[in-house]
Amino acid sequence: MDGNGRWAKRKSLPRIFGHREGVRTIKEIVEAANSLGIRILTLYAFSTENWKRPKSEIKSLFSLIRRFIRKELKGLNDLGIRLRILGDLSKFPESIRTEIENACIITSRNIKFELNIALNYGARQELIRAFEIMIRQGIKKPTEEMLSSFLYTYGQPDPDLLIRTSGELRVSNFLLWQIAYSEIYVTDKLWPDFTRDDLKTAIVAFQKRRRRFGGL
Ligand code: FPP
Repeated sequence: MDGNGRWAKRKSLPRIFGHREGVRTIKEIVEAANSLGIRILTLYAFSTENWKRPKSEIKSLFSLIRRFIRKELKGLNDLGIRLRILGDLSKFPESIRTEIENACIITSRNIKFELNIALNYGARQELIRAFEIMIRQGIKKPTEEMLSSFLYTYGQPDPDLLIRTSGELRVSNFLLWQIAYSEIYVTDKLWPDFTRDDLKTAIVAFQKRRRRFGGL
């Protein structure tokens, strides 16, 4: 969800205003994805590297996440949306962690749409965690399926499409294992300006791609 900070800067506003607007976009895009029949959407909300940001920005991001859960949980649940967190919540303040975990439990029976929120997520950390579990279980000959089953995204198919906003041409430690064959779509739009129509444009572009998965 790149571009919140730049969006605010362009308007001579503090960065947090960009994040607030980013949350409005989250709501629009989740609803749009759900009504378009998309089954799984993953939002990269806080990376393992984002701890390097000023404490005040981190605190504001936590408040926005908490407010989003409090305000939207009922609506998400009514829409049949299941919430899943990708990442290590143990570094989060206990109060917010409990609220997030409760939201996951409350929505856990929903099957229409899965909303993954990557929080304190880093793909390298996720892979190390999977290796550690395999070592603990004495697995000596891991398979791709086994490794996938120890990732935060266990049970979910690999993403078809990766959308990167604000023109960034990096993967930034995001789902490195899972995106091996994902189609990448980059738009110059900053996340707060990304709309339902932009999502549709990305999907149409995806539909025109010929996916060969290494074959001919
Ligand atoms: C990227 O923009 C955005 C983030 C690192 C934070 C996104 C998180 C939220 C909006 C909090 C709410 C989340 C949920 C799931 C409710 P940037 O700050 O890197 O912008 P820039 O690249 O323009 O500086």
